[in-house]
Amino acid sequence: MSTKLFDLTGKSAVVIGGAGGLGQAIAEGLATAGAKVLISSRREDALQNAQSEIKAATGADVYYSVADASNEPQVEALVADSIAKLGKVDILVNAQGFNKKQDALDFDIDVFRQMLEANVTSFMISAKHFGRHFKENGYGKIINLSSVRGKIATKGPGNAGYCTSKGAVDMLTKQLASELGPFGVAVNAIGPNITATPMMVSIFEKRAAEAGVSIEEYLKQQGNGNPLRKMGEPEDIVGTAIFLAAPASDFMTGNILYPDGGLTAIG
Ligand SMILES: NC(=O)c1ccc[n+]([C@@H]2O[C@H](COP(=O)([O-])OP(=O)(O)OC[C@H]3O[C@@H](n4cnc5c(N)ncnc54)[C@H](OP(=O)(O)O)[C@@H]3O)[C@@H](O)[C@H]2O)c1
Repeated sequence: MSTKLFDLTGKSAVVIGGAGGLGQAIAEGLATAGAKVLISSRREDALQNAQSEIKAATGADVYYSVADASNEPQVEALVADSIAKLGKVDILVNAQGFNKKQDALDFDIDVFRQMLEANVTSFMISAKHFGRHFKENGYGKIINLSSVRGKIATKGPGNAGYCTSKGAVDMLTKQLASELGPFGVAVNAIGPNITATPMMVSIFEKRAAEAGVSIEEYLKQQGNGNPLRKMGEPEDIVGTAIFLAAPASDFMTGNILYPDGGLTAIG
């Protein structure tokens, strides 16, 4: 068996949303596996901070580029800047997006549209422009951050926008896999369950205090609905991302992998 199955030496990756909770963890994981990494999002200060943290954790050179992934000309510029800084791009991770919960009957339709724009349209724009570069090279891997919410709705209200957007990401992943496969480009998605990213942990700490329990107890309680009885942590998602970026997954495309503690098995 090849020892290079999970080795990304010589590969270059762009992580959009790379200063976010999951994006930064994935960028760090790809750098640890040997890839050259560029992170991108809209706020330069957040990118600079993430760049320093990833460099400190991995010792790798990490680049950044400011772009709004919903803006096509800015994504075209991002592709050019990424090639200038990395030499070429082999791996694209779409880890951008947001969720704003609103009850369906009171949903602000402008917010619904913004969610589709950030969570779906931006994935299409980046796949289109990085996909052209991948086609020229005859090789590429696109990894889309979906969610368990692309497959199962929430019992409670509030997620009409988010669930719709993630369902669309799943189908976009499959269609792109179909169209780009003949060019040597694999397109897969990751469907995490709710994950204790740094931003989420600060929200959980507040909720734990309100409920009068420790943060550890709160996270345990929240994970109790999963067969593995645990809430996801960024590392749980990173391993899946490295797999989908690496030669180990070279014969996979159009898949959605669920590092979700088993939620979708029973959902
Ligand atoms: N954390 C979870 O529990 C969880 C579970 C399932 C799925 N997911 C999915 O995983 C992905 C990452 O989530 P996260 O928890 O890491 O979120 P996060 O911490 O809020 O990070 C999101 C990142 O996306 C960037 N972004 C948002 N809109 C953008 C745009 N138009 N162009 C470029 N960058 C943009 C943000 O930076 P700027 O605002 O500076 O642009 C930020 O860096 C999302 O697609 C999310 O839906 C997360």
